[in-house]
Amino acid sequence: MELVTSRLEILNEEDKQTLDVARISIDENSKAKRKLYIESYGCQMNFADSEIVASILRENGFATTSKMEEAELILLNTCAIRDNAEQKVRNRLQHLHHEKIKRKANGKPPVKIGILGCMAERLKTKLLDEEKMVDMVVGPDAYRDLPNLLNEIEDGHKAVNVFLSREETYADITPIRLDSNGITAFISIMRGCDNMCSFCVVPYTRGRERSRDPFSIVKEATDLFNQGYREVTLLGQNVDSYKYQTAPPAPDGGAEISESGVKFTKDELEKAPTLGAGGAVNFAQLLEMVAQIHPDLRVRFSTSHPKDITDEVLFTIKKYENICNYIHLPAQSGSSRILELMNRTYTREWYIEKIDRIRAILGEDCAISQDMIAGFCTETEEDHLQTLSLMEYVKYDYGYMFAYSERPNTPAAKKLTDDISEEVKNRRLAEIIALQRNLSHERNLTAIGKVSKVLVEGFSKRSEEFLSGRNDQNKVVIFPRKNSKGTAFSKGDYVDVLITECTSATLKGEALN
Ligand code: SAH
Ligand code: SF4
Ligand code: F3S
Repeated sequence: MELVTSRLEILNEEDKQTLDVARISIDENSKAKRKLYIESYGCQMNFADSEIVASILRENGFATTSKMEEAELILLNTCAIRDNAEQKVRNRLQHLHHEKIKRKANGKPPVKIGILGCMAERLKTKLLDEEKMVDMVVGPDAYRDLPNLLNEIEDGHKAVNVFLSREETYADITPIRLDSNGITAFISIMRGCDNMCSFCVVPYTRGRERSRDPFSIVKEATDLFNQGYREVTLLGQNVDSYKYQTAPPAPDGGAEISESGVKFTKDELEKAPTLGAGGAVNFAQLLEMVAQIHPDLRVRFSTSHPKDITDEVLFTIKKYENICNYIHLPAQSGSSRILELMNRTYTREWYIEKIDRIRAILGEDCAISQDMIAGFCTETEEDHLQTLSLMEYVKYDYGYMFAYSERPNTPAAKKLTDDISEEVKNRRLAEIIALQRNLSHERNLTAIGKVSKVLVEGFSKRSEEFLSGRNDQNKVVIFPRKNSKGTAFSKGDYVDVLITECTSATLKGEALN
């Protein structure tokens, strides 16, 4: 199994919604004695959770390490979205089992193994029965309980907490940025999901949807900006349904106002008009609050749901130059019949109307990406062709495409038959991927000859003579570190890059300013 060790490589994967590789997390700054090794699987929200976990455990004397051999605690933050995501963790556990045995044989102190995240939540105590080397199983809403659970396993017991909460947002916990490039960061703005897409396990593993206090979000983004970060991505399964009822401001105009105890100065309160208004904050307003922190702080967000994205959000993107022109709008299928079976609550026509709205308000330049599922229950060749034709219509800039994987106990597993053969699923998936590659290339070609404003994230993977960053549309741009006048650029700079060539995955060019 390939392990991604650098944050930059991850970002270069074009902000994948769901990563197919594990991420080892290190925060080299901490000097604590007890060593924790944490590996994350799945989506960015899981990765953001690992940063919360590292923060909670640092309070308890742990520092993260990239060397599994020196850790006294190994945590896998797992994903359950598809069967292969779980298989990867199972294989990893086999390896960890050997590590445990090896240490014992060498007379070294024993290592404890904990499973966190969505697979922990889905399988609960079953995981302890099936994987004997696991000491601890902790669901995504139970991370505050980790210190207690650790005490239990240190006493030689097994420990489980898979309680799902209606309130937990970890709003007051400052995440420890793991493997950070120091430029881009993710901020969870909500947890859980109330949509019941019939194929999806997330509502069961992450629980009910809840939004995080906007004051704490603005505070986190402001702190990041002050530390030199230049981009934040606001994360949620369905960001457009973000909603938070704020408390009215304190009579003295500041101090402690939010439920989660986040403190704001009067000055900070006055910065954003919606702050302190004492009303409900929706996603468009939250975007505006974050965008107003500083024009040099880029704002991205993921994921938008076609049923919930509003004109207000689109106009807010248009209003602020620092809110990126990029919308991840998963379709899942181009067939209204399949969308109905998926319980996506929109039709092909509704989805197309949303695309037309995006183009009308934000223009052709706005990048749009998709998620598609090939071979959902009862999908016919005609349904599949509709998916391809929807893709042709939208001309997506990128896509994340999957073969349907039945998840136990989801509505689809209970009510429908997973009746498309693996062979057909894979053939259809291959056709979707091939088409997307062409569309991405076609879209990238339109950038040639134009100037992109690129936020530099670091050196390119191949050479330190080249820099890598992303433009407004979230496209990876590679260019020589020096421009024709010999000026060299570095991480964190905004650089105007004239695009001269492209592949389906990246743009290449020359720095101008
Ligand atoms: N909240 C996001 C998606 C989160 S899961 C949204 O609503 O779009 C990321 C992607 O995984 C989904 O968009 C879907 O394309 C894919 N996915 C989810 N469940 C799946 C399953 N059972 N089989 C295959 N792909 C699945
Ligand atoms: Fe899953 Fe649907 Fe929720 Fe996305 S919106 S997380 S696909 S249930
Ligand atoms: Fe994310 Fe996987 Fe859970 S995609 S929400 S980690 S099931």
